[in-house]
Amino acid sequence: MRWRTILSPRVPRDPAHSAHLAHPAYRGPVTHDWCGWRDATERALYGPGGFYTSGDGPGPAGHFRTSVHVSPLYAEALATLLCRVDAALGSPADLALVDVGAGRGELLTGVLAALPEPVCARVRPYAVERAPRPAGLDERVTWLPELPAPGSLTGLLFANEWLDNVPVDVAETDGDGVPRLVLVRADGTERLGAPVTGADADWLARWWPLPDCAPDHAPASGLRAEIGHPRDAAWSRAVRTLRAGLAVTADYAHSRDARPPYGTLTGFREGREVHPVPDGTCDITAHVALDACAGPGAEHLSQRQALHALGIDGRRPPLSLASSDPAAYVRALGAAGAAAELTDPAGLGSFGWLLQPVGGSCTGLLTR
Ligand SMILES: C[S@@+](CC[C@H](N)C(=O)[O-])C[C@H]1O[C@@H](n2cnc3c(N)ncnc32)[C@H](O)[C@@H]1O
Repeated sequence: MRWRTILSPRVPRDPAHSAHLAHPAYRGPVTHDWCGWRDATERALYGPGGFYTSGDGPGPAGHFRTSVHVSPLYAEALATLLCRVDAALGSPADLALVDVGAGRGELLTGVLAALPEPVCARVRPYAVERAPRPAGLDERVTWLPELPAPGSLTGLLFANEWLDNVPVDVAETDGDGVPRLVLVRADGTERLGAPVTGADADWLARWWPLPDCAPDHAPASGLRAEIGHPRDAAWSRAVRTLRAGLAVTADYAHSRDARPPYGTLTGFREGREVHPVPDGTCDITAHVALDACAGPGAEHLSQRQALHALGIDGRRPPLSLASSDPAAYVRALGAAGAAAELTDPAGLGSFGWLLQPVGGSCTGLLTR
């Protein structure tokens, strides 16, 4: 089972796939069959029988591993962060912990188990998730299909690998270097539609100017970008849930100085990266332009930096422990291995953490 992040650089689509594309000419209005990736993904992941909403099977953990599934250390780190937020807020009577895109509630379950009793007694855990509530989940967890009202909560809002599943449209440059909307059918066949205009074009110009990101000497056709403004809006709305506290989103990300020239849209099924087909049988995901999501005062860290600041590192236990307490040594060795995986600069450690303090008191909690 592997993570969903794409570790190898993207290359242009293979010729067999690109043959489906009728570019540069626009072939007429969108029909019943053809639509943009944003609509297609919305239906495939969250429509009736969708990949995430059908409620059957093992849930996301059956198809890929996130940091949550790698080790309980991740939940322990989040518990440490929640305690810092709590202290910074002056230990409010109702301390909210909101997990957006909560999957099957695994992270909240782990945090509740890791919190010290005085904080655990005051915490109000919320799972915001489009999938149904899983059976047997801790009854303290409030399960919500949508975010609570703006300004209604004080505490920590956390979103692990959520924004990469917020559907986006895809643009691709035609033979003249003009960005056009990529249209797709339910079988994954693509073709180019109309030139990108309006809010989509404005977002691309500001955050992902397509011809600018062509590698040296590459033709300007076939460059692709995921149009991220729905994610900017989703994150901004999530942050506004808080009256005071800290909002954090962790995801595989890129920034304007290093956008992937051919985009990152991909599929995952049963532990493997697959061609993205919007028919509900696979996850559809794309890396997040986290810099575009950032609001004023946001802080950026890598997951490696964030977890180090929360006391998680991959250092092996001292060999002397092996003779004084062999069982503790084996346990510590296992934890060190998990910590190394979570902080690996070539893997999960390279994920981006975007921290958005709300109300002033939670600034610099991981950087002081
Ligand atoms: C990749 S899974 C991550 C699950 C979990 N956070 C983890 O790290 O293991 C993304 C989750 O986000 C949920 N999701 C996507 N958009 C959402 C939305 N607008 N509101 C609530 N949940 C959403 C999906 O249903 C899915 O369970």
